[in-house]
Amino acid sequence: MIAIGSDHGGYELKGHIIKHLAERGIEVKDFGTYTEDSVDYPDCAKPVCESILKGECERGILICGTGIGISMAANKYKGIRAALCGDVFSAKMAKEHNNAHIVCLGGRVTGRELAFMIVDTFLDAEFLGGRHQNRIDKIHAIENK
Ligand code: RB5
Repeated sequence: MIAIGSDHGGYELKGHIIKHLAERGIEVKDFGTYTEDSVDYPDCAKPVCESILKGECERGILICGTGIGISMAANKYKGIRAALCGDVFSAKMAKEHNNAHIVCLGGRVTGRELAFMIVDTFLDAEFLGGRHQNRIDKIHAIENK
C-alpha cells in the first residue's frame, strides 16, 4: 500500500497522481488534504509518516507547493527518509541509493506528466544495499545522537 498526502499547494497534483496510480493497479491510501482550503504542511506529512513507521504503508508520496516544506517536516520523523525530487534520475537514486520511504513533489513546480514519471520511477526502483546501507546507518546514527 502506498500512502499519499498533500497540503493545498499539492492538492490538485495529488488527485492526478491517485488517478494515475489507480490506472496502474497500484493501491493508494489518501491521507488528505481533501479540499483546496489552506492547511499547514507539517500536519499533512504526519499521517503519511506515521503509516510508514507503523508498517501500514510501504512507501509514501508527499506534495506541497514546492515540496520543500513537506519534505523538511517528513524528515523530522525519526527513521523516515524523504526525498524531494524534481527529476527522474533523482527519483531512481532516492530509492536505489538512499532507500527513501517517501518521494516529495512540488505541486506548483513539477508538471503533471513529469510527476507521473518521477512517482513511477520511485515506486519501481529497488534499494541496492551494500555500501549504501552503511551510509544510511550513518544518517540514523546522527539522528540517534
Ligand atoms: C503553501 O502556500 C506553501 O508554502 C507550501 O505548499 C509549501 O510550498 C511549503 O514549502
